[in-house]
Amino acid sequence: MSSYRIAIIPGDGVGNEVASEATKILRAIAEKHGFNVETENFNWGCDYYLKNGMMMPKNALEILQEFDAIFLGCIGDANKVPDHISITLLLTIRKGFDQYINLRPIKLYPGVESPVKTATPETVDMVVIRENTEGEYSATGGFFKLGSPDAFAIQTGIFTQKGCERVIRYAFELARKRKKFGDKAPVGMVTNCTKSNALNYSMVFWDSVYQKVAKEYLDIRTDMAMVDALTMWFVKNPGYFDVIVASNLFGDIITDLGSMLQGGMGFAAGGNINPEKIYPSMFEPIHGSAPKYAGKAIVNPIASIESIRMMLDHLGEEQAALDIQRAVVKTLALGKVKTPDMGGTNKTHEVGDAIRRAIINKTPNSC
Ligand code: IPM
Ligand code: MN
Repeated sequence: MSSYRIAIIPGDGVGNEVASEATKILRAIAEKHGFNVETENFNWGCDYYLKNGMMMPKNALEILQEFDAIFLGCIGDANKVPDHISITLLLTIRKGFDQYINLRPIKLYPGVESPVKTATPETVDMVVIRENTEGEYSATGGFFKLGSPDAFAIQTGIFTQKGCERVIRYAFELARKRKKFGDKAPVGMVTNCTKSNALNYSMVFWDSVYQKVAKEYLDIRTDMAMVDALTMWFVKNPGYFDVIVASNLFGDIITDLGSMLQGGMGFAAGGNINPEKIYPSMFEPIHGSAPKYAGKAIVNPIASIESIRMMLDHLGEEQAALDIQRAVVKTLALGKVKTPDMGGTNKTHEVGDAIRRAIINKTPNSC
């Protein structure tokens, strides 16, 4: 029997509530599909910081290294710890474990309403591949002459050949696997999200790597959009997109817009992936910690449950992953159990329970 050790970091704000739904689904699916899951919770985050002066222990990466994957609820509570400090937990894990792919599927499930008029289940089915370890978030720069009228700050983006190439290649491989356009070439498309008209070093370099990699994938259509225009096209014609590859900052921004196409932050899941599996990968809902909603059991757990689906897919439990998706789709299509963001009055755990029931009551491939 396959066996997986999963680290759970609930984090701050609503993290506990969504992590317990994620864990509930993980247990149910493991039991049904006959694999073993051992979870261990780590109460790291802002409260840990207030007690210990750090967001997680110094040997956190050593501890996490022993696990097959990590689930992260959400991090941050500005009333306790400034945001630029609390996010170090997330960034340390992403960089420390070389999770250089940030995988963010954007799909609108039937029964979910998007605030964007053009978004329908037929039009919204794309994936953003965001570079996750370098670029604009390289934390390189400094403050100078602070306190004087000549004060200034420098923030440098780092774009390496290796860093750009591996993420762009991943995007092309994914398009080949997705086959959004069918079996005949071009089977898919990778849109290069860029800004090389204004960022005349970093993005010109990024574009050149994109063009070099594209030559190896003649079965995939190439495409390019400036990030500003791309936000417009996301809204105007979401059905146009298949796979989008973007730098760290641009990917961050366009996936928040993407979450609205898929019905809101309550549905948006992400994976921080180390494709070589040298280190554990980390899966998380991309919504924030919403401290004002903490303890009210009103947030949508679907983004977290979808993160578990992505985790199982990464671990090679594809059937179990599909089964979670089937249960989510079925629950949403029935439309009986909804948290307030979906226009309902149900609690977080009631949505989790409904999806759990949909998992245990049906065989893997039936709807
Ligand atoms: C996200 C978040 C993080 C990011 C923040 C909290 C550092 O916005 O996962 O999209 O920008 O990566
Ligand atoms: Mn973000």
